[in-house]
Amino acid sequence: MRHEIQRVLVVGAGTMGTQIGAVFALGGFDVTISDVAVEALDKSEAEANSRISRMAENRITRSNADLAVERMSWTTDAAAAVASADLVVEAATERLDIKRQIFAQLNETAPPHTLFTTNSSTLPSSLVAEASGRAEQLCNLHFFNPALVMACVEVIPNPQTSDQTIDAVLDVVTRIGKTPVRLRAETPGFIANRLMLAIQDEAVSLYESGVADIKDIDTAARLALGHPMGPFELMDLVGLDVIEHIHRAKYDMTDDPSDLPAESLIDRVRDGQLGRKTGHGWYDYA
Ligand SMILES: NC(=O)c1ccc[n+]([C@@H]2O[C@H](COP(=O)([O-])OP(=O)(O)OC[C@H]3O[C@@H](n4cnc5c(N)ncnc54)[C@H](O)[C@@H]3O)[C@@H](O)[C@H]2O)c1
Repeated sequence: MRHEIQRVLVVGAGTMGTQIGAVFALGGFDVTISDVAVEALDKSEAEANSRISRMAENRITRSNADLAVERMSWTTDAAAAVASADLVVEAATERLDIKRQIFAQLNETAPPHTLFTTNSSTLPSSLVAEASGRAEQLCNLHFFNPALVMACVEVIPNPQTSDQTIDAVLDVVTRIGKTPVRLRAETPGFIANRLMLAIQDEAVSLYESGVADIKDIDTAARLALGHPMGPFELMDLVGLDVIEHIHRAKYDMTDDPSDLPAESLIDRVRDGQLGRKTGHGWYDYA
């Protein structure tokens, strides 16, 4: 039996969970955001309200903004919230043990029809399938940061995901005004991050082999390829620790040594040069 998706539980009230929740509320869905940390929930509520309110200055009407805010609530009690949810979007800390525990607990009180999705950038849903108890109703639903702005959402089935689940999730993505990109199978990094990583790896290789300086490689990417920013600028924005983590996660899945992070990246992370957030990365922001 097909259930119309109307109530969404977002698990994890951080950077992604907050904006994903706001996207669903703006799309007309009833949204609850849960977290284990009360401070994260308080911050998330203030952030969502202020972002939606700012959108009312030029992008949406004031009454639509007010309605979206009314549709959102925040809680520490995910078990209770999932009892009335049709769709779960898990956006908690990027750790497999945490995600497995979350899905196992949600499965205890979720109605049988509820679909489970994970926003993880590096962990395919097959790794949480057994814990979720509903592998057929589970897939990756990968938003990009900032979720309120980025138009693309990747939808990735695990080997057991049913076609019905994928169809329902693709439909939801369209209803929130985003463009879904459907993958046919799991692959480390999905599509967009895989493309981005390939460009970054090539950029680092050009730099490490002494072919060109960081600044000139970035200039070529921007002015010759029309990229909004160069690969080194982008890595500094994302955080070099995050980039290193993505490489290691990919290596864990492939066992291919060429997926390991480059020496110059490892050195910077070890020295605490993580990019813009620490004032140093590939560039010096001091
Ligand atoms: N940050 C990005 O650019 C980005 C982009 C796409 C996808 N993602 C993915 O989104 C997910 C969240 O990333 P983020 O950047 O928002 O992280 P974040 O650190 O900003 O937020 C994670 C939140 O999860 C909460 N949390 C931890 N354990 C929990 C539990 N058991 N139950 C409920 N909440 C719990 C934390 O308290 C925190 O508030 C990750 O899987 C990440 O891979 C991140």
